[in-house]
Amino acid sequence: MENYAVIGHPIGHSKSPMIHNRHFDVVGREAIYTRYDVKPENLETAIAALQTLGVSGFNVTVPHKVNILPLLDAVDDEALVIGAVNTVVNRGGKWHGYNTDGQGYLNGLREMTGDALGDMSVLVIGAGGAARAVTTVLAKHGVKRLALSNRTPSRAFDLQANIARFREIDVIERSEAIRGLSAFDLIINTTSLGMREGDSLPMEIEEMKTDVYLSDLIYNPLETRWLQYGKPKARALQNGLPMFIEQAALAYEIWTDRRADRAFMSRMIREEME
Ligand code: ATR
Repeated sequence: MENYAVIGHPIGHSKSPMIHNRHFDVVGREAIYTRYDVKPENLETAIAALQTLGVSGFNVTVPHKVNILPLLDAVDDEALVIGAVNTVVNRGGKWHGYNTDGQGYLNGLREMTGDALGDMSVLVIGAGGAARAVTTVLAKHGVKRLALSNRTPSRAFDLQANIARFREIDVIERSEAIRGLSAFDLIINTTSLGMREGDSLPMEIEEMKTDVYLSDLIYNPLETRWLQYGKPKARALQNGLPMFIEQAALAYEIWTDRRADRAFMSRMIREEME
């Protein structure tokens, strides 16, 4: 029996154990996935313990995604650029870290945009961990224009500097973003705005062009306020569910070298969310 896990703090609400355990069943893998609440001060001892227990791989969530990097034996290039790890695999007693958020986001996004993505002007709102993953993959994939707007401009400038090795990104203030909003084909919300009732909108709707593509990384609720308001204007909308499904599928593929059953994962998660 193989053992997998997720570590985070808090971890009670994680849907990953349900997704992976049911998926293991369906694909006939003798494996079990457990969640562990690991406080920041216990991170190092926790990953040593996972090694001792023979865990084959684990996911990493808030608040450990950045702090785990120096504790791993090897870190994949993309995870290094993003500066965060969310998936770790045990290869011969060594921990190898990956980040599936970026690729997971891109795979999901391409379901909505198809090949048109490469010709789009894209505005990313936010400059936290999720924005780092999203801008990194968009910079590597290639889009016509990439711009970033964040409440705290210094964080946006940090991210701009980090991506500079791949391409130029414009950092724009919110007021400037609103004035020029009609120039963007795709607007992506990576902030937490929309998770709580009464949150303000991450970006104005009125100034967007008709036929805009809207992408929100939030999937709980499935229809965020922003997507709800943007619906009449948008050509297509997407919440964070495809990214969530993809990152789980990619983790399974890193761990096992087998293809994940995405259709099953997607059905199960949607059923669970309704
Ligand atoms: P994550 O890893 O999920 O991206 P994070 O690193 O805490 O989380 O980043 C949260 C993002 O949401 C940041 O861009 C944050 O803006 P600041 O850098 O100014 O903090 C943004 N955010 C969160 N609450 C916000 C709010 N009320 N208004 C505007 N932006 C907000």
